[in-house]
Amino acid sequence: MIPSVVEEGNKPFLLAKTSGNFFYFCAMETVVSGIRPTGVVHLGNYLGAIRNFVRMQDDSRYKMFTFIADYHALTTHTDAKELRSNVKSALAIYLGCGLDPDKATIYIQSHLPQIPELYLLFNMLAYKGELEKVPTFKEKVRAQEQSGKSINAGLLTYPVLMAVDIIIHRATKVPVGKDQESHLELARNFVNRFNFMFNNGETYFPEPYGFNYGEELLKVPSLDGTGKMSKSAENPNSAIYLLDEDEVIRKKIMRAVSDSGPTMPNQPKPEVIQNLFDLLDLASSAETIAYFDEQYNQCNIRYGDLKKQLAQDLIAMVSPIRKRIQDVLHDEVYLKKVAKQGAEVACESAQATLDGAKELVGLNYF
Ligand code: ADP
Ligand code: TRP
Repeated sequence: MIPSVVEEGNKPFLLAKTSGNFFYFCAMETVVSGIRPTGVVHLGNYLGAIRNFVRMQDDSRYKMFTFIADYHALTTHTDAKELRSNVKSALAIYLGCGLDPDKATIYIQSHLPQIPELYLLFNMLAYKGELEKVPTFKEKVRAQEQSGKSINAGLLTYPVLMAVDIIIHRATKVPVGKDQESHLELARNFVNRFNFMFNNGETYFPEPYGFNYGEELLKVPSLDGTGKMSKSAENPNSAIYLLDEDEVIRKKIMRAVSDSGPTMPNQPKPEVIQNLFDLLDLASSAETIAYFDEQYNQCNIRYGDLKKQLAQDLIAMVSPIRKRIQDVLHDEVYLKKVAKQGAEVACESAQATLDGAKELVGLNYF
């Protein structure tokens, strides 16, 4: 069948004229994303990233690659036993969240030897100055120095490795949270530099962009009113983990920071209250959100009621995921099979990209 309209988001990559008719062939856009196996996966990781992976694997416009960034974890976490256990649980979490190895390519970063090879090439293109300016690098330097640790070179070149994770499959869309924006901007600089230096400015590597279905990239707030929900938070009560039992979720939400309530109608919401509304936006129905918004604007709001509702809606979201994670968490045979199947597909795609890049750079002699 000849599609009369090229679907939004699909770029025609070939236009053939056959006996008066134009045939459009629509390319699937390649999507890559990953998470670091550095601790227990939380609601921010789920809503900011993993939930989109699942939607994208089911969307016929996209070809989804998703992986566990174990090399990235080594920039800050070097306990081998912990790494092994975190990688396996990250894999179980992917599956529990709904990723399907028959729809998405799911793999472990270190299973692709092509990644360190392309990383080496891109380290020749990245400038020390631009890497030192990356906000996440500066934050990590602060944290490492505070805990008396030195700054390794891997931490500085973290964005190079991340760019390579993406471009190794020549991906254009990257479902991540807002905190990853600066890394993606740098990835675009690297690919443009490569294309300019080695391919006469023609696209060999396309530019990757952050993605969250038609919306801004997300920042899921922490429950203690400070910054984003994070795996490395000192206070475990500031994040909802996907493995938290229902009662734990309820307690954490009931204890989330709020204030004494608005004193004037339609008063702007202070950050800690906006955070609660942001969570409501992510978990609750439009009617629930509108109801509490109105209560707030009329100064009738009872934060206890809002939190009870929020806890109930979050439990409804997290509890089935937790159960599915627990079902596969200790099934090593299955986890190994998934990782192997993913590595095979991912290696093939990565090798094709790497071969082309090496040829452009001049690393093909005979
Ligand atoms: P963390 O920062 O908690 O260690 P990662 O760095 O491994 O988590 O992030 C994995 C993915 O989850 C990334 O796409 C990141 O942008 C996203 N993410 C992490 N925290 C949040 C958050 N609070 N809100 C939205 N997305 C987040
Ligand atoms: N830097 C990302 C994070 O901290 C993890 C990551 C590594 C990643 N490589 C990636 C995300 C490639 C998307 C694409 O969350």
